[in-house]
Amino acid sequence: FQPKLLQGKHVLVTAGPTFEAIDAVRGITNSSSGKMGYAVARAALEAGAAVKLISGPSCLKPPLGAEVVNVVSAQQMLKAVNEAVNWADIFIGVAAVADYYVLNPSEQKIKKDAHILTLELAPNPDIVSNVVNLPDPPFCVGFAAESENLYEYAEMKRRRKNLPLLAANLVQTAVGGDENELVLFDDVGAHPLPRAPKITLARQLIAHIANLYQKTLTM
Ligand code: C5P
Repeated sequence: FQPKLLQGKHVLVTAGPTFEAIDAVRGITNSSSGKMGYAVARAALEAGAAVKLISGPSCLKPPLGAEVVNVVSAQQMLKAVNEAVNWADIFIGVAAVADYYVLNPSEQKIKKDAHILTLELAPNPDIVSNVVNLPDPPFCVGFAAESENLYEYAEMKRRRKNLPLLAANLVQTAVGGDENELVLFDDVGAHPLPRAPKITLARQLIAHIANLYQKTLTM
């Protein structure tokens, strides 16, 4: 009998984009389908974990067995993460969180006219950094989408965010499609995972996480 890699562990995953309202119908968002995050949640379930999936707006059907919390904005996502984070052994931030929110969104649809419209934007909280900086954080994994200099930017991001593991992908390959290509960055170095369906990469990522997480328990 081979026990599953994450049997009995609690895994918290964020996925999808966030949507920051401008008015009753318009908003600012990132292009993210949620496919990678949902695949990571599914792979964690297959590995025997209990999974909470906090998802921004996505058309996808969540994996069977995950407890799903649907949110819209980054601030709602942060609140949902804070409510679940003490439960989690492992946190995986796959969501493409909008960097800014609109300071004074209009409750009604703004009527268009010939004038220039100025939006005031304020920075959103960094959810993954909030989690990493908790007094007793879960094992934290970040994602990075870059459009160039993937190796350099991703490793810089991993260090800046103080993450033991960061999975990086090129925006050009990652967004929307069913396949992806990842490079995992950890304290040992870079581990490229060749192009494959997102679920295959998610399973490889979960195996890598389980291995590193196991080591933190024996430290
Ligand atoms: O800095 P950047 O947005 O590229 O970092 C990406 C990583 O940080 C992802 O894991 C993403 O989910 C997380 N993030 C976050 N909150 C933000 C911005 C990014 O959790 N406001």
